[in-house]
Amino acid sequence: MTIEYKAIWIAMLIFLAVAGSGQRGPAIVPNGAHFPNPGGTSSTYSTAGGIDLTGPFFQSMGTNGRSCGSCHQPSDGMSVSAAHVQQRFDTTQGLDPIFRTVDGSNCNHDIDVSTVEARSAAYSLLRTRGLIRIAIQVPANADFAVVSVDNPYACGETDTISQYRRPLPSTNLSFLSAVMFDGRESSPLTGTIKILPTNYPQSLRSDLLHQSVDATTGHAQGDGTRPTPAEQQQIVDFEMALFTAQATGRGTGNLDARGATGGPKPLISQPFFIGTNSQIPVFENPASGPFNPAIFNTFDAWAGLPYNDPRAAVARGQLVFNSKPISITGVAGLNDDKAAGGLVTGGIPVIAGFCGTCHDTPNVGNHSFPTPLNIGTGEPTPANQSINLGGLDLSYLPKITVRSNVTGEEKTTSDLGQALIDGRFDHVGKIKGPILRGLSARAPYFHNGSAQSLLDVVHFYEVRFGVVFTPQEEADLVAFLSSL
Ligand code: HEC
Ligand code: HEC
Repeated sequence: MTIEYKAIWIAMLIFLAVAGSGQRGPAIVPNGAHFPNPGGTSSTYSTAGGIDLTGPFFQSMGTNGRSCGSCHQPSDGMSVSAAHVQQRFDTTQGLDPIFRTVDGSNCNHDIDVSTVEARSAAYSLLRTRGLIRIAIQVPANADFAVVSVDNPYACGETDTISQYRRPLPSTNLSFLSAVMFDGRESSPLTGTIKILPTNYPQSLRSDLLHQSVDATTGHAQGDGTRPTPAEQQQIVDFEMALFTAQATGRGTGNLDARGATGGPKPLISQPFFIGTNSQIPVFENPASGPFNPAIFNTFDAWAGLPYNDPRAAVARGQLVFNSKPISITGVAGLNDDKAAGGLVTGGIPVIAGFCGTCHDTPNVGNHSFPTPLNIGTGEPTPANQSINLGGLDLSYLPKITVRSNVTGEEKTTSDLGQALIDGRFDHVGKIKGPILRGLSARAPYFHNGSAQSLLDVVHFYEVRFGVVFTPQEEADLVAFLSSL
């Protein structure tokens, strides 16, 4: 056994022993431990010296046995892959605490979970797509009305809307410009603060403190006594110390070898500020530009390797990501004239952009400014209600139709996004652009799990934006994304 593989096995054994026994004891995932995934291995580095599996993040603080770690696992880039959720279902016959009807089952009304078969049906979205049900009330002051909710699982209320989302990774958090897909933990709705150049990082920290309380009362059905203020601090300190990335790739070996800067460690010293490298000028921060579409330089050093070397493919994929022109049209938040959040878009109907227009944080890939966007991942095509604008299957998701009180216009989507946070019709379907590190550890992709693989993601962009990639470019781009 090589040293690397020994480290993987040691980490796996420690983790499984602790996760499986439910016992407390000194246990830590050491820095440098690798966890296998379909693209190779991922690794999470903690500036606190390792992942402490005994802290409040991994303790049951509510009433249903769940901890934060039920849905944010070190083996899965601090999210959960659907494949591993299915494994947990199989090993525990669907009794692992992630399987709870509060938000783990497709719906929460009179759900039969008395047999393995019943649980298999009740938790089908969680098992197959890694989805958690997020129910949010329609704001009283909304400028739209909910016309209909067609929910295949009987959670069809029109005043509280059930939506289905992937757990966002609780790592690399120092790069966040908004907390949660719809930014609700950085918004007045939850009494939290919008993250701006002037209040970062205090705003981010206070959002995360608040989020740790909401996650416990919500997912873990807590009674409000935990996490205590001291535990909230511990959770946020724990999360903010984590940096996650793919560490080895299939055929490429270590992603930080031969001058490349993959793996989690280089992220610790990656400079970041809110609005960094924005293509669209950010009012609040004149220092945001100039925009450089070359978001990633992680694999620059592999560019000169022989064509057939798997590392050369990763470098070519990086170049595709950094330089392929994309005509961005029809994206609410960029192309509409009502874009909020300090962006001056002026309703430009077509933006000459790149992957990095929206994934602009250098070497991280999330949107550096809180600008939720609707790229259509939850929107059915007009012709076929089961296929989204990029050709992906939406048939397992609800269809929510809303009508503007002002114009009478109607929109149908599987997720209302920011519109449920601030009640604005023009914010329907808007969500944040997530961090693109550690992707291989956490399939499927997009907020609703509609892309089963990174190739599905690439196909989405081809169909949605009319980008033409050669088969080689597609394969290279996938090799690159799976190495992040
Ligand atoms: C039942 C599964 C589940 C549990 C348990 C859970 N989470 Fe989450 N977490 C999610 C989901 C799903 C999302 C995304 C929800 C959304 O955006 O609407 C999320 C989002 C987050 C985010 C936001 C990251 C970002 O990029 O915005 C953080 C931070 C987080 N969780 C931390 C925690 C903490 C801390 C706990 C424990 C107190 C916890 N979670 C418990 C499922 C879970
Ligand atoms: C117009 C803005 C925009 C452009 C251009 C764009 N993205 Fe995205 N990207 C987003 C948003 C917004 C999301 C979140 C969508 C969702 O979760 O439903 C996203 C999600 C993703 C994800 C899924 C991440 C996850 O955790 O599930 C990947 C991978 C990705 N983009 C890669 C790319 C690549 C590769 C390109 C270029 C071919 C690209 N993006 C171009 C805005 C954009």
